[in-house]
Amino acid sequence: MINKFTYKPKQFDLSGRKGISDKTLETHFKLYEGYVKETNKLTEKISDILKDAKVDQEEMPAYSELTRRLGFEYNGMVLHEYYFGNMKRQGSVDPDKDSTFRKLAEESFGEYKIWKADFVGIGKMRGVGWAICYQNPANGRLSNHWITLHETGNVSGFAPVLVMDVWEHAFLLDYMPAERPKYIEAFFSNIDWDSCERRLAKETSNQAGA
Ligand SMILES: [Fe+2]
Repeated sequence: MINKFTYKPKQFDLSGRKGISDKTLETHFKLYEGYVKETNKLTEKISDILKDAKVDQEEMPAYSELTRRLGFEYNGMVLHEYYFGNMKRQGSVDPDKDSTFRKLAEESFGEYKIWKADFVGIGKMRGVGWAICYQNPANGRLSNHWITLHETGNVSGFAPVLVMDVWEHAFLLDYMPAERPKYIEAFFSNIDWDSCERRLAKETSNQAGA
């Protein structure tokens, strides 16, 4: 007997950002809802194959394809939740001087501005994907990574702290394709650094309980 579980799209207050229009965010939210729908649909199809508790040889091609696609859709869903969740109206460009994020960025990179140069540099890389700052739960350090599409490059077990979508759909209604740096600047003026602090605190309490 297979347990049924379906994801529901989370709600975000997306209006009134600086340099990222409401139209862009509404369109982007619809795309996110598509990832939630596809994650549920693929999970359901895989469940259908599994309901007799075996994967027959003739089912293997379909099962494999569905499972591969699930990695794309699942990460697409979750990463958008992090992305929308780390922006807010009247956000601030940089974290407070005495914030945990600032302290960890300095410990991990030497200076906050070096962390930022790395994160922004990754965001400007050619290709379709994400710039993500993760915390390593084993030692608390921050590191920045490029994720291709949604699923390639995520570091297993690391906790996302700041997530920036740099697919063109994130900015094409507001900027030209070559203007990604302007979008990145706009993203930085909308960051909810408190959400990053909460993610770091959650990770620290997980470590304490481990
Ligand atoms: Fe996106």
